[in-house]
Amino acid sequence: MKKELHDTITATITGLGIFLPERILSNADLEKMVDTSNEWIMTRSGIEERRIASDTEFPSTMGAKAALQALNDAAVEAKDVDAILVSSMTPDYLCPSTAALIQHEIGAKKASALDIQAACSGFIYGLSLAKAWIESGIYNNVLVIATEKNSAYVDYQDRTTCVLFGDGAGAALVQKNGSGYAIRHVCLGADGEQSELITIPASGSRIPASQETLNLRQHYLKMMGKEVFKHAVRRMEAAASDCLEKAGIAQEELSWLIPHQANIRIMEAIAKRFNIPWERVYRTIQHFGNTSSSTVPIALSLLDSKEKPKKNEHLLLVAFGGGLTWGAALLTKV
Ligand code: UT7
Repeated sequence: MKKELHDTITATITGLGIFLPERILSNADLEKMVDTSNEWIMTRSGIEERRIASDTEFPSTMGAKAALQALNDAAVEAKDVDAILVSSMTPDYLCPSTAALIQHEIGAKKASALDIQAACSGFIYGLSLAKAWIESGIYNNVLVIATEKNSAYVDYQDRTTCVLFGDGAGAALVQKNGSGYAIRHVCLGADGEQSELITIPASGSRIPASQETLNLRQHYLKMMGKEVFKHAVRRMEAAASDCLEKAGIAQEELSWLIPHQANIRIMEAIAKRFNIPWERVYRTIQHFGNTSSSTVPIALSLLDSKEKPKKNEHLLLVAFGGGLTWGAALLTKV
């Protein structure tokens, strides 16, 4: 009897929200800051512009706004949230967690609060935890938020990274069943052997912040772009295929692929290897650049409001980032 009841519960995204700062940093602006060109940025990354948070916008405040929008979308009150999971590689502080700050900001008094560090894959790691908590009956209402102020960690003297990143937040409320997107299957992976490919070397306990680390600009994000590119294509394509197979869905049955928005050429390569038509690959990179773990929930939320997927359509989320980490999630509109 108990088993039958359990079998009917599927964790479902019932509300979505986003927050994007108003300030736009264009390629023309970047041309005045570093030795780059609109032509290079467009052809090498596909990015036209990105959003940059103001001095009073932080991962916690942006995440709170996205979370309130997701709660409103699901018609759930903050006081009924059981748990808050926050993915951020650019948190307000090392301690306290951004999740705790958001818990207070939105007034989710009974919610537990936990930060996840899986870099750009963090939202999918969060969905996996939310699914486990909901389907095991531990919680009923879980907020999964990805929120990033990359502009605080990007070195605006380093043309190889500063043209790529932007700020923003996305959020999903996950509940038992309901209408929205059923989380059918989630696959996660990591390869710590490649950890040096994307780093913020200083200001952790291994290399504490000092005048020397500041002089060496070690508190900024460093990325070995070319190497990361190859891993990103290979790992995202493999994670997407694995997740589809485990969910028992054929590639031709997919309505949308929503990949991490790091580089349009990475997305093109995945689409080719995965053999999915380009018009079925959802893209926001041209407007927002790489917002780390926020790219996937921002894209999902925009796709939901603009394309309005119909019942039984399948969507595949796939992400990749520092760690290295990666993940994919198969959603079905219900
Ligand atoms: O979100 C986490 C995951 N991140 C990613 O997946 C990012 C993966 N990597 C990439 O997207 C690409 O590797 C980049 C966009 C970072 C770089 O593109 P690339 O085609 O791999 O360029 P490259 O690093 O091979 O650089 C080619 C040339 C170099 O000049 P030389 O050595 O050939 O003279 C660079 O110095 O382009 C130069 N370059 C630039 N030129 C103008 C690098 N950045 C710039 C720039 N403007 N912003």
